[in-house]
Amino acid sequence: MNAIEFRIITLQNNIFSGLFVGQNLITIQQVDSTNNFLKELLSKSEPLPEGTVIMAERQYAGRGQQQNRWHSEPGKNLTFSILLKPAFLPVSQQFDLTRAISLGVVEALQPILGDKLSIKWPNDIYYDGKKLGGMLIENILHGNNIKNSIIGIGLNINQQVFPLEVPNAVSLRQILQRDYDLKALLSDICKNIEAAYLSLRSGHFGEIRHTYLERLYRLGETKRFRANGAEFEGIIENVRPEGTLVLRRGEESLEFSTKEIEFLN
Ligand code: BTN
Repeated sequence: MNAIEFRIITLQNNIFSGLFVGQNLITIQQVDSTNNFLKELLSKSEPLPEGTVIMAERQYAGRGQQQNRWHSEPGKNLTFSILLKPAFLPVSQQFDLTRAISLGVVEALQPILGDKLSIKWPNDIYYDGKKLGGMLIENILHGNNIKNSIIGIGLNINQQVFPLEVPNAVSLRQILQRDYDLKALLSDICKNIEAAYLSLRSGHFGEIRHTYLERLYRLGETKRFRANGAEFEGIIENVRPEGTLVLRRGEESLEFSTKEIEFLN
């Protein structure tokens, strides 16, 4: 992290109504990736409070899942990372954190976007079959537990045109033909993520798993998939507690982890 690479604009916050998520908000004009920045901050500074949020106006090397790049037009969208410390969560249950965070984001957007919102397994935020956002959750483990979790979230908000490499992207602006205030949205999202996280911390795993499944994109629909180089028709039936996707193909029940399967249209 180099002082020339970024400029910290704000170090305090007063529009966030939650208990801790967003109470320590650091807004940066530009950075390679808010996840990288938060990771470095964690390793270099005094203990950072849980709920610290790093928000960037521009990421010049935003990272997506599976080594992909995350594209976001500067100043138009939400690109931020949240620090959580789910020491209560065994590593074997880390997918429940993914579930809770995905639900927090969906619940924040629900009043604006309604029921066409869904979660594409494992944690993409979808609207009517298009990708509105995604997340990159990086967990730092301590023995069998999660010491720190860096929750990086990118949501397309006011961007009007997307590059050809992301033909399936959609933004709030494209859906509703109006611009949104990024800080106000961030505040709402943080509040909902905090509520979902507190529910997880209270042990409401059953409820979180159930609600995640209810929100799952293409659950119970016959659709095309590609796995091991072959295309086939299948039906998403379930997601195992540890996060594996369960598909039915004819009489067979198949299970996939994230890199093993692709959704086709
Ligand atoms: C994906 O769907 O591929 C995940 C996208 C995650 C993007 C966010 S933007 C903020 C944070 N910083 C990053 O470099 N990536 C995440």
